Amino acid sequence: MSPTTGAPPGSGRSTDVLRLLRDLVPQRPRFLRGPRIATGVRRPVIRTERLLLRTHRLSEADQWYAIQSDPTVVEHLAWPLRSRAESFVHLLNRTRHSRLEQNDDFLALAVLLGDRVIGDASLHLRAGDPARLRCEVGWVIAPQWQGHGYAREAGLAMVALAFDRVGAARVEAHVLPGNDGSIALAERLGFTEVDAAEGERVFAIDAARYRELHSEPGSGPG
Ligand SMILES: CC(C)(COP(=O)(O)OP(=O)(O)OC[C@H]1O[C@@H](n2cnc3c(N)ncnc32)[C@H](O)[C@@H]1OP(=O)(O)O)[C@@H](O)C(=O)NCCC(=O)NCCS
Repeated sequence: MSPTTGAPPGSGRSTDVLRLLRDLVPQRPRFLRGPRIATGVRRPVIRTERLLLRTHRLSEADQWYAIQSDPTVVEHLAWPLRSRAESFVHLLNRTRHSRLEQNDDFLALAVLLGDRVIGDASLHLRAGDPARLRCEVGWVIAPQWQGHGYAREAGLAMVALAFDRVGAARVEAHVLPGNDGSIALAERLGFTEVDAAEGERVFAIDAARYRELHSEPGSGPG
């Protein structure tokens, strides 16, 4: 985890120019990233009982910055506390993270409650063996909306996307030790701990277990 500065939100952090430049550098070109999977998704729009998940928009930069500049949000993430300019570039990249088709593709969706961005849900495609597609899921909900089951709703929607549309064989959640909220959420969704490596705890659920637990919309363990 990157250390954070602990600066309070809106305290006008100065911009780390090197980080800004690094974030502006384009990702590895697509032609170097292997074949496309047959079950890829582009710009999915997902409606759950209370939420809308869709790709990020630059017009929501203020809302994104409010989330990112909260020290409690980044406490257990590999995100630094970003200045407003850094947050804008980060969001610009996130608006382009809109598909899962090739190895290493990253899909990041804004989580909306009404027209308010309350968080982010993501899937990282690890497509090494086409018969054993694997996705890593990520979730962030801003503190004022935590504890209402929104993370569970958004997390389940992303897990369903991975299994039902992308055809993943397994979904993993990589969590830093001490991130009790994220661990509770993973377990609540039916993940079990499978590994601990490089300072992370790895939780996973396979397709059969997902279908067993979540075959009815809104269902789950407990
Ligand atoms: C992890 C996170 C998304 C959970 O959000 P949330 O809105 O609290 O989650 P939900 O309301 O959907 O709750 C899911 C379950 O986890 C439990 N939970 C939530 N926060 C918890 C905490 N700090 N400690 C223990 N359990 C917690 C809830 O009680 C709920 O369990 P229940 O269904 O049995 O009642 C949120 O804390 C967050 O965004 N954290 C900062 C970003 C982050 O670290 N993301 C994870 C990176 S791996």
